[in-house]
Formats: sequence, structure tokens, C-alpha cells
Amino acid sequence: MSNPETASDFNPFNPTDLDSRYAAMEQMRNTCPVTPIGDRQWYAATHAGVLTGLKNVDKFVGSFIDTSKLPPDEVMISAIPEPRHGKIRRVINSVMAPHRTMHAEGFIRELAVGLLDDAIAKGRSSPDTQAVNPQTDNPEAAQSQAASFDLIDEYVDPIPSAVIAHVLGVPTEDFQKFRRWSDELLENQNADLNSEGVPKTMSQGHPEFAAYIQHQIDIRRAALETPDDLIGRFIGADIEGEPLSDDMIRTQTMFLIIAGNETTRNWLGNYLTTLAYDPQLYAKIKNQPDIREKFMEESLRRDCPVQIVARAATQDTVIEGQSVPQGDQVVFGIASANRDEAVFENPADFNFDRSDLKKHLAFGAGPHICPGASLARLEARVALDVFCERVSSFSVQAGYEFQYNPVFWALGLRSLPVEVISEP
Ligand code: HEM
Repeated sequence: MSNPETASDFNPFNPTDLDSRYAAMEQMRNTCPVTPIGDRQWYAATHAGVLTGLKNVDKFVGSFIDTSKLPPDEVMISAIPEPRHGKIRRVINSVMAPHRTMHAEGFIRELAVGLLDDAIAKGRSSPDTQAVNPQTDNPEAAQSQAASFDLIDEYVDPIPSAVIAHVLGVPTEDFQKFRRWSDELLENQNADLNSEGVPKTMSQGHPEFAAYIQHQIDIRRAALETPDDLIGRFIGADIEGEPLSDDMIRTQTMFLIIAGNETTRNWLGNYLTTLAYDPQLYAKIKNQPDIREKFMEESLRRDCPVQIVARAATQDTVIEGQSVPQGDQVVFGIASANRDEAVFENPADFNFDRSDLKKHLAFGAGPHICPGASLARLEARVALDVFCERVSSFSVQAGYEFQYNPVFWALGLRSLPVEVISEP
């Protein structure tokens, strides 16, 4: 095990291995809940501090990148101040509300079944399959049900991008592009400045992606009857009588695709990883569908897919007793809040029987709370149900070394090679 990182070395924008980062968070929670981590930068480590800060939109505004020099219509929803934010959120909420997204269940199920069946069929002929040693009374029969494949690549990653395409009303067959574009945009997130040295707009950051979304807007603007999907609703909406511009619609749509993709994939991958390393737990989850929801929430808490969110103080303020001057950046440590021992007993343990399970902040809090939470929960549940129906047992292939998602604010895996025994 590596040496625990101390709070003074901790850099949430370039996090080190998990043991070290959780050790640093614990130290901060116990010694200095709002810790200086750089020039005019702070890290809020406690559940109380993160909750207060995220709810307080009068004093903090989203600041992963400096959006002050961007055209107002090209600022993504997470960085728009109130009251404008609330007005755009209403449109997003109307499309992402549970009573609307629940209609995606059949699509998600069909998608998940197709992906898993294909992965198993392809994985049966994989040379790695020969290494499988199924624990069963009938090794020959089980051998024929054994398959090797990369669970993240074949099953987990395609689901959120296809589902978001479906919900947004853009052609589902294009979902592989969303997956690629989303990765490409995020890979450059920190370094992306335009020729004037200001951060690029989303459209400048990925012109091909932007052109695709613009085309979807053009189709809907030209239609005799605007479809009742997200882009259609943006077109029909107004802010104080002013219709939304193409720049605004394109920016928010691109952001939604990335926000829905880069988060849910991590959640699915994280809970399947927990199960892959714990066959007894998998057997329990497989046999008891009614505990799956709690299991998935505990995964969100302990292995939080979005580790941090960043805000800038819009005025001099005090948080958890610490003065924070106007203009300073505060990184709100969601991952640390979710492991705060003041709220969660033995927070490093995976215990889905804990009574305070739903106090986790994995989806944020306050006016910017994730509008995609109910869709993400639906995807996660259907993906787990389909997996349990089709897989008798599974384990990680020998020799695998964790390959983490390189996005600094995320916790997830980019690959998980598994050996699976499928249901007969
Ligand atoms: C496991 C899955 C997900 C996690 C952990 C997650 C997490 C979060 C968090 C922590 C925030 C708050 C950010 C902040 O306060 O600055 C957020 C906001 C957001 N999420 Fe999610 N999210 C997930 C899935 C989704 C999905 C499926 C969508 C859309 C399809 C989505 C769309 C958004 C949008 C648009 C925002 C910005 C909201 C605003 O600023 O008002 N998310 N998400």
C-alpha cells in the first residue's frame, strides 16, 4: 500500500490512488474541514460543508472552468447563475422527470439484453474462455456456458450513451459517436483554451459533435410539428418571452449527453466490479431482487462516480467556520462527504443495510441537483436485473490491473475483463 497522502499534498484535479486520496480526505474532515489546496483554492471535506455549499447558490456559482469570458448562451447549465439557471432547469426537468423517463424502461431492457447476449456469444469463442474453471457438478455443460469479455467495453459503456440518445430523441444508432465524442471532449477539459487564451465553448471544443447537434436542431426547427423531445422542448421554451438561441440549445444538449454518459457508466462499472470480486454477494443479489436497490445506492455512496464539483464564491463568505473571499474556488468533495464518519458509521465498509443510506450526496444537492438521477437509477436497475437473469456467476480475469477512467472528477473503470458462466 502506498503512503497515505497528506491533506497538504492533496490535489483533487490530479488525484492519486484510491487509498491515498481517501486517507487525505479523512485527515481533512478531522482536522480542517475547509482546507487550502492551492492559490485561492479550497477543498470542503465534510458532509455538512458540502451540503451547505451546494445548496447556497447565492454565494457559489459553478466553476470547473472560468466561464466569465464565454458568450452567455454558451455557458453550460452547471455554471449558470440564478435566476437564469432555474428557468433553463425547468425545461430540462420537464424532459427528465421520472414520469417521462420511465417510458425508456423497455428500450433499456432490450438494449441490455442485446448487449449482454452478444458479449456472451462472442466471448464463448474467446481463447481466454479455455482458462475458465467452472465450479459445478457438470464441468462440460458449464464450459459451454463460459465466456470471456470486457464487461465495461461490451456491456457497461454502451448503455448510458444509447439511453441518452433515445431520451433526447436523436437516432439511437449514433450512440457510439456520443461515447467517443464525450470521451474526446473530456480528455481535453483542463487544457482547452482558444487562441485568445480563454476556455473554449463546448462547440469549439468539439466541432464535429456540435455540428451533429446543430443538425438535430435544424431538423426540428424545419419540421411542421416539433417533436416532443428534449431539443423540441428547448425550441418551444422561452426565458422571459425570449426564445432560446441555437447556441444555448446546442450547448445544453451537448452538456446533457456528456453528463448522462460519463457518470452512469462509472456507476454501473463500479457496482459490477464490487460484485465481480465478491461471489457470495453476487449470489445474494442475484437471488434477492428486492435488495438490489439498496445495494446500488451503497455503491453510489462508497464509490462515488462524481468525486468533486467546483464552485467560485460570488461574495466574501464563511463556510464551516472558514472565511472564503469572493472569487476563490471551493472544491466540494462529494466523495469525502459520502465517507463522513459523522453521518455514516464505518464509512469505508460496503454495508447496504445502513439506515442512513440515502443521505449520500452522489447526485449533488440544492438547485443544481442532478436532473438525470431517476434516469440513471432506472438504467442501473435494469442493467443489474438483466445481468442477474443471464449470468450464474462471474469473476475478474487473472492478472487484471485496474484501469481507471482518466477524467479527474470521476471514479470508474475503463476496462474489466471477466469470465462469466451464463445461465443455461
Ligand atoms: C450515476 C449517474 C449520475 C451521477 C452520479 C450524477 C451526478 C451529478 C452531480 C453530482 C451533479 C451536480 C453537479 C453540481 O452541483 O455542479 C449533476 C448535475 C447534472 N447532471 Fe447528473 N449524474 C448522473 C447521471 C446523469 C444523467 C443520466 C443525466 C442526463 C441524462 C445527468 C445530467 C446532469 C445535468 C444536466 C446536470 C447539471 C444540472 C444543473 O447544473 O442544474 N446526470 N449530476
